[in-house]
Order: sequence, then structure tokens, then C-alpha cells
Amino acid sequence: MTELVVRRLLIDLEQPVARHWCANDAFLTAWFNALSMSFPIGEQFFIDSVRNGLKALPPERQTELQAEVQGFVGQEATHRRIHALFNAQIEKHGLVNAWEPRARERLQLLEGTDPRHGLAITAANEHFTALFAEWLLAHPHVLDGSEARLKTLWLWHSAEEAEHKCTAFDLYQALGGSLAWRSTWMRRITLVFLADTMRQTVDNLRRDGTLWQWRTWRSAARHLLGREGLLRLTFKPWRAYFRPDFHPNQQSSELSARWLRDNSASYTPVARAQPA
Ligand SMILES: [Fe+2]
Ligand SMILES: [Fe+2]
Repeated sequence: MTELVVRRLLIDLEQPVARHWCANDAFLTAWFNALSMSFPIGEQFFIDSVRNGLKALPPERQTELQAEVQGFVGQEATHRRIHALFNAQIEKHGLVNAWEPRARERLQLLEGTDPRHGLAITAANEHFTALFAEWLLAHPHVLDGSEARLKTLWLWHSAEEAEHKCTAFDLYQALGGSLAWRSTWMRRITLVFLADTMRQTVDNLRRDGTLWQWRTWRSAARHLLGREGLLRLTFKPWRAYFRPDFHPNQQSSELSARWLRDNSASYTPVARAQPA
């Protein structure tokens, strides 16, 4: 059982954000913006799935996992609230969030289904997020030249994603979720998540007027497929998810713990989930 602390981030998101806030790089900015646009609806779905999963457990297991779920919900609720503020700033640049309405429509299809579906979808997304988080924490220079408050926003979110990466997975296992469904949902989510990220990133670039610039594509190639690129470095750990004995804990969270330790001046703990 993981002890999860909910933290209030001490940054001001009422101030405008520069058009190319991420390292003055159009691609990186559009890509991070796209991810941020998915968070308010996505993280609400994760919260609901984890809550529904907890309710479906026998009472004694509920007591065992309650504190962790409470911490998970607190962290994700904080993320979605802060990213909504960030999204309000980037929408002033003329960007339009097309991801959210599309996701909302899809999620309606899941209403009333076995809670393990929601949990398998959440666990797959959380694996993605944890891989992205570890990559960003290992390559924080991607954010070089960005304002300190925005750097803090993304690294804090990454650190907490790595911290709570087991919660949905453990609930899925506790409810007897099968490897077959876990793998099916991972395959589906991989396609949907990559397609959604790409569509929204391209749309952000189009509206920004930088879609057809050579340096946009060069940055995309370097940050996704280059030697230290996200897709190249995360392919193996992504594939590990399909192993019968996979557990999110098998991937290190050391960078997350270190960031939280070294940056304690950037947040205040608001609640500590105590083991029941
Ligand atoms: Fe999050
Ligand atoms: Fe998460």
C-alpha cells in the first residue's frame, strides 16, 4: 500500500502564459498543451473509476485500500483543477480543445459496465502517464527556457503520477481483473491515446500557424524518435505491461521521490492519507 500525500502547488496560473511557453519550441508547446487539454476530463474519469472499483470490493479490502484511494483522488483532483487553469490560459492563444468532447462521448459508452473496465482503462492510462512522467523527470532540460512556474507544474504532476501509478492497477487486481482484459484495454488505449494526442497536437500547431515549419517537425522527430526520444525510450517498458507478472512497481520511481524532496518549497501538503 502506497502512502499518498496531496499537495497544494504554490504557483500562480492567473498570469498569462507565453504563446510558445515550452522552451520557445512550437512543437513541444503544442504537444504539452494537447496533453493538458485531456487532463480535466481524463483525470475525472480516473477518479470515478477508482472510486467505483473501491466500492465493488468486500468491506475488509475496502478498509485496506481506502487511504490510498483517498490520496489518489486528492492528487488527481488537484491536477485537473490546476490544468483547467492552465488550459484557460492557453485557450487565449486561440487553441480549441477538441479532445474533451470526443472523450466525453466515448466515456458514455462505459456507463453501467463492470467497474473493472473503467479500472483497466485507468490502469493503462496511468502506465502511459507514469512512463511519460519518468521520461520528463529524467529529461527536465526539455523544459529549459520555460518559466519556473510552468516547469514546476509539469514536474510536480510527473512526480505525483509516478507516485500513484499502482493504485488503479492494484484495485483491478484486487477485483480479480484478468490479464486478457488488461491487455485488450492497453492495446485499445494505446491506439486511442496516440491518435488523440496526435490530432490535438496537429490542431494546436495549425491554429498556431507553425504546423508546416521545418523546425516544428525537426523538434517532433528529436523529442519522440531521437536517441533520448519519448517513444524510443518507452517502447520496452510499455511492452512490459503485457507480461503476466507485470506490476507498475517494477519501474523505478526514484526520480519522482527525488524531485518531491528537492522541491518541497514549491508545495504544501494538504492532507496525508493514513493507513486504515
Ligand atoms: Fe494526474
Ligand atoms: Fe494519475
